[in-house]
Amino acid sequence: MHIVITGASRGIGQALRAQYLDQGHAVTGTSRSGGDGLLALDVTDPAGHARLAETLGDRPVDLLICNAGIYVDKGQSLDAGYPAALWADTFATNVTGVFLTVQALLPHLSRAASPKIAIISSQMGSDTTAPGGSYIYRASKAAALNLGRNLATDLRPRGMAVGIYHPGWVQTDMGGAAADITVEQSASGLADRFAALSLDTTGCFETWDGRAHPF
Ligand SMILES: NC(=O)c1ccc[n+]([C@@H]2O[C@H](COP(=O)([O-])OP(=O)(O)OC[C@H]3O[C@@H](n4cnc5c(N)ncnc54)[C@H](OP(=O)(O)O)[C@@H]3O)[C@@H](O)[C@H]2O)c1
Repeated sequence: MHIVITGASRGIGQALRAQYLDQGHAVTGTSRSGGDGLLALDVTDPAGHARLAETLGDRPVDLLICNAGIYVDKGQSLDAGYPAALWADTFATNVTGVFLTVQALLPHLSRAASPKIAIISSQMGSDTTAPGGSYIYRASKAAALNLGRNLATDLRPRGMAVGIYHPGWVQTDMGGAAADITVEQSASGLADRFAALSLDTTGCFETWDGRAHPF
């Protein structure tokens, strides 16, 4: 398989890349600055997506993993925090970034036999639990979930399956050292979920360990 992973420089994306390379797959990983075998892609930048699409030429993409994300409103105050700039940056990365990556790589996905798109959202994007706080991140991950659900509808007739995932609470720069699971555990569980994704399950919202997540 040829797998494209955004945000592959650190954390979950890096672990997914390492795991797929170990298994002998071809992986195109990206990060903002590139280097270390990664292509440079700021997912907020449409021109960057155009360059990525051009670099991939007519190569098919079997699996696109939209993993790049930021969580910059931890601990903000409801009364005085959550400035507009944080909303803009977060939505540009976590929502627009996902859409732009999918859109740019549709031609490459369409060349694969059974193309799949995995969107890394979060349990914090679910409307079912609403513990308060982190308004910007929660709203962005809810939007990513909604985006994935609607892409699943539009892309089903094209033979493309779309899954949306909660990767667990993971020990990364974002998740922190006290998180529940390692990047290896998360990546291994997610890869199993991506392998199970099909047109029969397109539009699913699942946890890294295979449970259906409430929307
Ligand atoms: N960790 C958790 O507990 C947890 C829980 C639920 C969901 N998630 C989601 O899982 C995904 C990965 O999280 P993580 O914990 O691995 O995060 P992380 O360790 O902070 O890594 C984030 C990755 O995203 C990339 N990135 C950020 N902004 C970008 C941009 N504008 N353009 C391109 N790449 C960008 C970073 O690249 P640079 O190195 O270039 O900055 C990095 O590779 C995110 O979508 C996150 O919201 C994580």
